[in-house]
Amino acid sequence: MKSVATIQEVREQVKAWKKEGLSVGFVPTMGYLHEGHQSLIAKAVSENDRVVVSIFVNPMQFGPQEDLATYPRDLAHDTELCEKTGAALIFHPTPEEMYLPDFCSFVDMNGLTKGLCGKTRPIHFRGVCTVVSKLFNIVTPDHAYFGEKDAQQLAVIKQMVSDLNMPLEIIGCPIIREADGLAKSSRNTYLSREERTAALVLSRSLQAAKARCEAGERKVSEIKSVIEEILTVEPLAKIDYVEVVDSKTLEAVTVIEKSVLVAIAVYIGKTRLIDNFTYHMK
Ligand code: PAJ
Repeated sequence: MKSVATIQEVREQVKAWKKEGLSVGFVPTMGYLHEGHQSLIAKAVSENDRVVVSIFVNPMQFGPQEDLATYPRDLAHDTELCEKTGAALIFHPTPEEMYLPDFCSFVDMNGLTKGLCGKTRPIHFRGVCTVVSKLFNIVTPDHAYFGEKDAQQLAVIKQMVSDLNMPLEIIGCPIIREADGLAKSSRNTYLSREERTAALVLSRSLQAAKARCEAGERKVSEIKSVIEEILTVEPLAKIDYVEVVDSKTLEAVTVIEKSVLVAIAVYIGKTRLIDNFTYHMK
């Protein structure tokens, strides 16, 4: 496995692979890799001849009050995980490599980016769309892998690729959880022991909601109440949002008639965590 920090080195390597007729899979990440990221890399390895993993904490997608400065980093650990999972190339650029001083172009989106996380994070998806477009142009993959953990991000990227005719396929991968149900996240490292226990309230509330959906409940107000009642019992939890939306358009629904995304964002202390499930109508 190679590890490079410049755009030129990525281009040269990918060009050589393409000349040999090899397919390229791509997993964009912000590093501090865990089994969630690893599942994406493993799937990419199983479906492509060569896999590129990018590790870049993208300043453009963080708001001024957010955790850019404290976001956890560990390139040595990440390198080991990529190597043992079968990646062929790590791309870990500096912000200066990605954003030249005269940088002034952005990829932005209406609609899908306005609700859910877009409400509390108004500039987030512009930063994500811009950096992911750049990375796609640098790596030119055949397939790119994103987690359903960030369901809105996955929907946004699929829309962007379709709208802008980007020549690659986006593949969604299921949420990987800790044994006790907490969705794996690099941000879980911010949690104290007490908060880590409190954080279980997210997956617990979603499990209860899923059971209600499966039992035939179709009223969104009921599903939301089930979740809110469980979340509000936990003193360390503060709800950012509890939403039930059409899984494709991400528009709010009042009755479950098609597949829906049930998504929540909750502050546990100062740490904002997200989780979700998609309920598929049979
Ligand atoms: P990051 O948070 O590092 O996540 C990278 C990818 O791993 C995303 O597609 C995310 O959905 C996926 N992922 C994270 N935790 C997961 C879990 N528990 N189960 C399954 N997949 C999981 O998302 C980003 O980085 C950035 O916004 C990025 C797309 C790299 C653009 O900067």
